[in-house]
Amino acid sequence: MSYIEKMFELSEKIVVVTGGLGQLGRQYAKSLRLAGARVAIFDIKHCDELFPANASFQLADNGFGFYEVDVTKRDSIQKATDSVVKDFGIPNVLINNAAIDAPPGSNLGNCSFEDYPEEALDAMIDVNEKGTFFCCQVIGGLMAKNKGGSIINISSIYGNVSPDQRIYEHLEKDGKKFYKPASYCMTKSAILNLTRYLATYWRNVRVNTLSLGGVFNNQDRRFLEKYLEKVPLRRMAYPEDYVAMILYLASDSSLYTNGANLTIDGGYTAL
Ligand SMILES: NC(=O)c1ccc[n+]([C@@H]2O[C@H](COP(=O)([O-])OP(=O)(O)OC[C@H]3O[C@@H](n4cnc5c(N)ncnc54)[C@H](O)[C@@H]3O)[C@@H](O)[C@H]2O)c1
Repeated sequence: MSYIEKMFELSEKIVVVTGGLGQLGRQYAKSLRLAGARVAIFDIKHCDELFPANASFQLADNGFGFYEVDVTKRDSIQKATDSVVKDFGIPNVLINNAAIDAPPGSNLGNCSFEDYPEEALDAMIDVNEKGTFFCCQVIGGLMAKNKGGSIINISSIYGNVSPDQRIYEHLEKDGKKFYKPASYCMTKSAILNLTRYLATYWRNVRVNTLSLGGVFNNQDRRFLEKYLEKVPLRRMAYPEDYVAMILYLASDSSLYTNGANLTIDGGYTAL
């Protein structure tokens, strides 16, 4: 095996992907498995709904495991992690990808900042911030005691810059303006400094943030027109656009990358 092949070798890696049944998490899980890693998906949803019998990869594959986990509960993460250790071994990579957002029609509040409900704020903090924190405690702690590892914390352009509320204005309903809520942006921003904290706290676990731009998911035409005006590459991301960076951070090719905030957004935040 050449040194280049060794750098990107993933067959010895055991990867936990939280939110691994979502739009991006599924792409990461599948790509990591295709690259040879053993992959444990942690998700609050049932997998049966999302892995049809004719899916291109199967849970029966003995390099794939599904664990029903609520990342807002530390004991749920601990229980699943104990099972992963039994099924595969101690994880080397953790991707903190599970999160909730407040797209149009969501019950997590798209009202004005002044009226934003406390329950919606708590829900967002619980999953996006505390969920990441607890997974780092349980799985990161285990990695630090073992031979080290890599944690990939997923943030967003909205954890780095403020949303331009004008791209959401047309979503106004029953005379009520639509706002992209501060809660999502604030929780995604918290990820950046948790990453930096942990990157210096541990000496053998690399911790990095991946800040991502918006992903195409059949958004409405007016949203797309306004969003694309802000992206130099004039398109939204496809889940595949993020795979190379996931493989890089999961593999030993990133052994000197620590505490970084790596942005992939088609140039959105360069404007
Ligand atoms: N899609 C985008 O445009 C975009 C842009 C920037 C950043 N991101 C970030 O990428 C990540 C994935 O986004 P996505 O679009 O795939 O989201 P998604 O909603 O498709 O997937 C999120 C997954 O997390 C799971 N989840 C939610 N709450 C959970 C809990 N308490 N415990 C365990 N699992 C839970 C959901 O069941 C779901 O499968 C998120 O962190 C998001 O903030 C997404």
